Amino acid sequence: MKITIVGCGNMGLIFAHALLKYNIVSKENLFLVEKNEQRQQDLLKLDIGNVVTTNDSKIANSDIYIIAVKPQDFEKVAGELKSLLQSAKCIISIMAGVKISRIESLLGNPNIVRAMPNSPAELGMGMTGFTASSSLPLEQVHKAENLLATTGRAVFFEDEDLIDSCTAISGSGPAYFFYVVKNMIDAGIKLGLDEATAAILVKQTMLGSFHLMNSTDKSLDELIKAVASKGGTTEAALTSFNETHVGDNIQKGLERARDRARELSK
Ligand SMILES: NC(=O)c1ccc[n+]([C@@H]2O[C@H](COP(=O)([O-])OP(=O)(O)OC[C@H]3O[C@@H](n4cnc5c(N)ncnc54)[C@H](OP(=O)(O)O)[C@@H]3O)[C@@H](O)[C@H]2O)c1
Repeated sequence: MKITIVGCGNMGLIFAHALLKYNIVSKENLFLVEKNEQRQQDLLKLDIGNVVTTNDSKIANSDIYIIAVKPQDFEKVAGELKSLLQSAKCIISIMAGVKISRIESLLGNPNIVRAMPNSPAELGMGMTGFTASSSLPLEQVHKAENLLATTGRAVFFEDEDLIDSCTAISGSGPAYFFYVVKNMIDAGIKLGLDEATAAILVKQTMLGSFHLMNSTDKSLDELIKAVASKGGTTEAALTSFNETHVGDNIQKGLERARDRARELSK
């Protein structure tokens, strides 16, 4: 297998490491297209593949191309690569908010997978939603799925519009989690704990609660009820959350993220 990653910044590099880790590609057959000179030097030092630029003919005939440049750089990259990519068997875009129809028309190629990964991909614990152009052969969809799953889990969406919902939930999700953690730590400090102690109480509670949730048959409502005894401390906090509509506001926030994803992909 020969794979080319176009744009080897944060996400491109995460994919490069994951592909090598799971032997999807050897470093001899991995091509890292990068225009930033400092970044090129960093990649050369890492010695994880061939560092090239868009005008290098060595990237021709790759089995898969991964487009990992910023959405605003895509038009320029597409201009540089169109002749090489026109006949590619599979192009995976991880660019936020760039629709399949736009990628198809700028590259002149209908073999497109559009994916939305998230930042825990760095640890192989990512969550990626993906969709594919209707003409892409199933064999290529499966290849793309195997590739995406090297960074965590991958879920296929038949309907491209749902990628905007996926962006709002799992794409942006890590930031919501860090936001809750941060506010719980800040609350701990206000309640008299030093920062380090507050941080460890919150982080270990999140970790333990995640594993408890994942290893039980109980529903989330049952898990909440099991902690919140009548008239107790947890109930006091939950009552305050309900009075200030925290749940509704979280849902509204995610709806707004979905709407923004829609706007950006117009
Ligand atoms: N970061 C996330 O959590 C996340 C999550 C989901 C999806 N994404 C998507 O992943 C993509 C990459 O994000 P990122 O955070 O990895 O961005 P990034 O760190 O800026 O990486 C993009 C790299 O591509 C390079 N580049 C730009 N134009 C190029 C060209 N013509 N030829 C070769 N290389 C070129 C950039 O160089 P310069 O710096 O010189 O421009 C940069 O090094 C984005 O489209 C984003 O929407 C990111």
